[in-house]
Amino acid sequence: MKVFLVAGARPNFMKVAPIYRESRKHSHVVCKLVHTGQHYDYEMSEAFFKDLDLPKPDFFLDAGSGSHAVQTAKIMTAFEEVCLAERPDLVLVVGDVNSTMACSIVAKKLLVEVGHVEAGLRSFDWAMPEEINRMVTDAISDYFFVTEESGVQNLLKEGKPTETIHLVGHVMIDNLLYQAGKLENGKIDVRKLSVYPLKQSAGPYLFLTLHRPSNVDNRDVFERIADALNEIARTRRIFFPVHPRTRQKIKEFSITFSGNVVLLSPLNFKESLFLWKDAEAVLTDSGGLQEETTALGVPCVTIRENTERPVTIEMGTNALGGTTRGSILHAYRESLEKAGKARVPPLWDGKASERIWDVLKSKIDSHIPRMGSKRKTPANQAKRQQ
Ligand code: UD1
Repeated sequence: MKVFLVAGARPNFMKVAPIYRESRKHSHVVCKLVHTGQHYDYEMSEAFFKDLDLPKPDFFLDAGSGSHAVQTAKIMTAFEEVCLAERPDLVLVVGDVNSTMACSIVAKKLLVEVGHVEAGLRSFDWAMPEEINRMVTDAISDYFFVTEESGVQNLLKEGKPTETIHLVGHVMIDNLLYQAGKLENGKIDVRKLSVYPLKQSAGPYLFLTLHRPSNVDNRDVFERIADALNEIARTRRIFFPVHPRTRQKIKEFSITFSGNVVLLSPLNFKESLFLWKDAEAVLTDSGGLQEETTALGVPCVTIRENTERPVTIEMGTNALGGTTRGSILHAYRESLEKAGKARVPPLWDGKASERIWDVLKSKIDSHIPRMGSKRKTPANQAKRQQ
């Protein structure tokens, strides 16, 4: 059975790594990695492949940046060509970036089945491009692999058949536990990490990421957030690996940070984990970090008005910080208080990828060649229709 595993942007790479690793245990699965090229800078892309023990992608679509329509169209055009030439039996997409939506649409229109990993999450905030990507992808997927109970409930409310919804846990946490294990058991020489000296000399510190258009593309909002950060930085150092979008906006809006806010280049996974796992708290607008901090019990402030990952608030270490100075400072205190009582959500145990392939087992079994049998796959059906 030929499976395309699609990744396009930084948060995808962490999710495909464990799924890809697990695929190697199934001799009848040929898993091909498709990198759409949505993220392309070395630090945003190739560094992650090396860092996460991923091989070079089998297909690189070179889509690059652009408006949403341009980027999505470039990904779709290039992915369709590869699908037509290669005829996958299943396309697995992860997360909620433009690549996720673009590739699921292409596959579905070629009558190739689609599995969505991290399905069912909803912020109910239509101003977020990711919410549109999630809704569209879930509208057409055949298999829904879900990280938390809210996702199951959302999909049921949207009328998805129960048998297509699989609460499997979180592949992002599979990757996190795998990499954190390597840091702990000395498989990674931490003294060789570029951020090692920073951490040694820091005292108590915070870790910050910020890249959402709603936070950094609007001058007033960005200035308010910077104000709160500068207040926290009066007593704490804040390490801030800066996303390319954010770097452009800091320059454009002349945002000023106190000397205690340390601006860094984007970090690879291990460097980043090494820093945030021992932070007093993480401040972020990322989706993944809200979950990873909950998995490791690190206090987290989400600099947003909402989250599509409610379990991190209900059970975990996450506090919703909004985007004003007062609300962010309040959530910072709240997250420190929450940490002692927080729990790790069910099935966030490092085995989500295993469960995904277990679910797909019957599909895999139906592809084991039998003497004289003719395979009937969606891709073959599409070929016949043309
Ligand atoms: C994308 C995802 C977002 C995810 C984020 C993680 C969508 C809609 N958004 O947002 O969900 O949280 O990735 O990083 O898919 N750029 C570079 N180098 C790169 C990539 C981007 O300089 O390698 C710059 C370009 O100027 C580009 C801008 O960053 O225009 C934004 O990149 P884009 O992929 O469009 O969106 P992200 O903000 O990264």
